[in-house]
Amino acid sequence: MIEILNPAQLDRARETGALVGHILHTLKEKCTVGTNLLEIDRWTQEMIVDAGATSCYVDYAPSFGRGPFGHYICTGVNDAVLHGLPRDYSLVDGDLLSLDLAVVLGGVAADSAISFIVGDTKPAESVAMIDATERALAAGIAAAGPGTRIGDISHAIGSVLGEAGYPINTEFGGHGIGSTMHQDPHISNTGRRGRGYKLRRGLMLALEPWVMADTAELVIDDDGWTLRSATGCRTAHSEHTIAITDDGAEIITAAKR
Ligand code: MF3
Ligand code: CO
Repeated sequence: MIEILNPAQLDRARETGALVGHILHTLKEKCTVGTNLLEIDRWTQEMIVDAGATSCYVDYAPSFGRGPFGHYICTGVNDAVLHGLPRDYSLVDGDLLSLDLAVVLGGVAADSAISFIVGDTKPAESVAMIDATERALAAGIAAAGPGTRIGDISHAIGSVLGEAGYPINTEFGGHGIGSTMHQDPHISNTGRRGRGYKLRRGLMLALEPWVMADTAELVIDDDGWTLRSATGCRTAHSEHTIAITDDGAEIITAAKR
């Protein structure tokens, strides 16, 4: 379903988005060498509960995962890129960590993801890959506005990722979002200008460019959830929820500092 939010719902979306941005920013500050992925999940649960919000993940049981997710945040390390199920693993120096979080507050959902390097060792290829997903996200946001089409966003994202030299997987991408996390339309991370659904004011979208260094092929972990690069290469993911406004797009999940 495609939902168009009214001004009151958009105000509530801003609160949800600020919470998601705040939690991710807080986690980025807290994660260090030795932090366990299950600890990150527990911190996230506490922050969601304290804010009176509800997790979009814990009971989520889509066709692409095994049973309810059972956790509060996706934690992907290195080759794990999407739907990373938190597990008993302690981060080491130089790990590339992707965190993906969606919650509902006041009846409105917001969804965002960040990738960053843990510790002091910053491998140049990993930094470049994270940077490419962030630039692709910025390009996708810049392309969004009333009257533009989903294909314009997909094209903008795909151009940045492609020019940076990454293969693009089209199985998973962005999505509409509103009272629930996953709604139509699907937003591929590559596409053609002028194609697809025409954007309208009040529409909320989650844009989420993600890449794997040297492959477009995913494999699923034995945990039934975590999607990894087929070659074992490193991966990165950046996501914001945006709302279409009168003259462009507003980032809903930016972290306030
Ligand atoms: N938030 C993810 C997305 O960006 C979806 C995670 S689904 C989960 O669309 F079940 F793995 F949590
Ligand atoms: Co999403």
